[in-house]
Amino acid sequence: MCGIVGCILKNREVAPVLVEATGKLEYRGYDSVGIATVDNEGIHIKKDAGKIKEVDKKLNVSNLPGNTGIGHVRWATHGVPNQVNAHPHNDCDNNIAIVHNGIIENYGDIKISLEKEGHTFKSDTDTEVIAHLLEKFMGKGKNLEEAMKETLKIIEGSYAIAAICKSNPHQIVATRKESPLIVGVEGDESYIASDIPAILKYTKNIIYIDDYELVVLDKEGVAIKDLKGNIIEKKIDVIDWTEDMAEKEGYDFFTIKEINEEPTTAKNTLKEKTEVEKVVSSIGDIDRICFVACGTSYHASLVGKYLIEGLIGIHTDVLLASEFKHSVKTLTKNTLCIFISQSGETADTIKALKLANEFSKTLSIVNVLGSTIARESDHTIYTLAGPEIGVAATKSYISQLISIYLFAAYLAKDKDGFSGFNRIMDSLESLPDFIEEILSKEDQIIEIAKKYKDVFNFVFIGRGLSFPTAMEGSLKLKEISYIHSEGYAAGELKHGPLALIEDGIPVVVVIPEDEDHGKSLNNLKEVKSRGADIIAIVSRRDTVVQSESDETICLNEKIDPIISPLTYIVPLQLLAYHISLARGLDPDKPKNLAKCVTVE
Ligand code: AGP
Repeated sequence: MCGIVGCILKNREVAPVLVEATGKLEYRGYDSVGIATVDNEGIHIKKDAGKIKEVDKKLNVSNLPGNTGIGHVRWATHGVPNQVNAHPHNDCDNNIAIVHNGIIENYGDIKISLEKEGHTFKSDTDTEVIAHLLEKFMGKGKNLEEAMKETLKIIEGSYAIAAICKSNPHQIVATRKESPLIVGVEGDESYIASDIPAILKYTKNIIYIDDYELVVLDKEGVAIKDLKGNIIEKKIDVIDWTEDMAEKEGYDFFTIKEINEEPTTAKNTLKEKTEVEKVVSSIGDIDRICFVACGTSYHASLVGKYLIEGLIGIHTDVLLASEFKHSVKTLTKNTLCIFISQSGETADTIKALKLANEFSKTLSIVNVLGSTIARESDHTIYTLAGPEIGVAATKSYISQLISIYLFAAYLAKDKDGFSGFNRIMDSLESLPDFIEEILSKEDQIIEIAKKYKDVFNFVFIGRGLSFPTAMEGSLKLKEISYIHSEGYAAGELKHGPLALIEDGIPVVVVIPEDEDHGKSLNNLKEVKSRGADIIAIVSRRDTVVQSESDETICLNEKIDPIISPLTYIVPLQLLAYHISLARGLDPDKPKNLAKCVTVE
């Protein structure tokens, strides 16, 4: 949902660095892009609809002069994606330029009153009011930092903002509320950004900025202040992500690179065992668990419900973060709310977490170190999947699931002794090899993708632990191939969706050899007899299902069904990826979507 970046460099031009950094932020938004630099001549802006490569080629953005600048990638909220609405935005006289991630909720009223005062607006965005408010306060003799403080008293909503001005060409002033912002420092050079991958090439020394902190970057370095002007001493974290981790490394797309990283990711997440054990033992008494998340993280949460209720018998709910507030009255101090998020910056999830903090215990399972969700929960488990750039969550889903399995296993050990614990731990140990084996089936999956690339509808079904897998397989497909698809609990088909089944419609049946196998087989036969093409994700020794299916992707029979969500999803990720490619699409950057959803 938009990304911002900025830097002040010593004796070198910022534009090429900002071009590269905005490219790294494209996973946050890619409908338009722009860069502003400042030097003794004034503010220079180049921006347009499109991705940075196209816009740089067209406008030679890399050629902008100056050692100080800011950049932006946009995911449109207010105003269509075009040149005028692209950031940076400026004031009436082009003395100020700003970039913004978030939404200014009261922009309508502010705009009307600024227009009455004589300000002329160029764009349809909510953001432009910030530039004009800064202009208004600087017109009254305030410097950029003071003008920003005045502006913050007026604007409502969510924001990460960075601003530059002609009167001080060696300064960037930035701030945040409910949208992410980090600072990077490397010798005499300093950076701000929405996220680490944007500046990973230039520094690993990161400072996480909190709401209502003001960051002033200038030739002297970085100062972080509260809104009264007091200096805040912040810790510098040295992060261990490498630049390669945020590169494609020979793969055509991040999505396939990240799917192929799943065995390594699994090993890394498993190394967090001891940390998870510590978290479980520090939580204290709980009588209810409530998972809260969005999208893929919501599907991981559903697996958590089946595991925890099945193994331990603790009542567990799964709530969509955007709907969470309606359940707040049910929370008690013995409820543990678990927030699952790859980015740690999803606005819906942050909002829900802040509410839950008032009434219950909170734990987050998060990928991005130091992110808002990680910092604002009572306890945090990091999934250690490394940077995930493809908009579709793949390796992060596997790592979220592993963290949930570890959590459930240690909880089971605490409450009910060792039987559930040993079964999960033993199965998880063999997971990287099982995933490796599934990845070797890619050629077969490419052929299935070619066969079904032009259909209009897909259906995914599964029971028990395979129901979330069906939902997640369906989400992956619709997200990156734009084919309509639905994921259902197989038992629900007869209550309505069966009416959709007709000749040739592909139905993906997720059918491990678990306690629900017999009933799932019945459902498979029901859709088959109504003309569906069956694509079965099935155990290698399950010849019955194989003989009933049009296509089969066979998985190792030694996979314990308890870890089927961690394995049966992998072929579905590959299927979605290859259907996307076969349809000539860019799986990394699906239309209308962004990796990190920082608006509600
Ligand atoms: C998954 O492929 C999606 N891109 C999306 O559903 C995502 O999982 C959701 O927006 C939640 O993001 P988070 O895990 O970063 O909070």
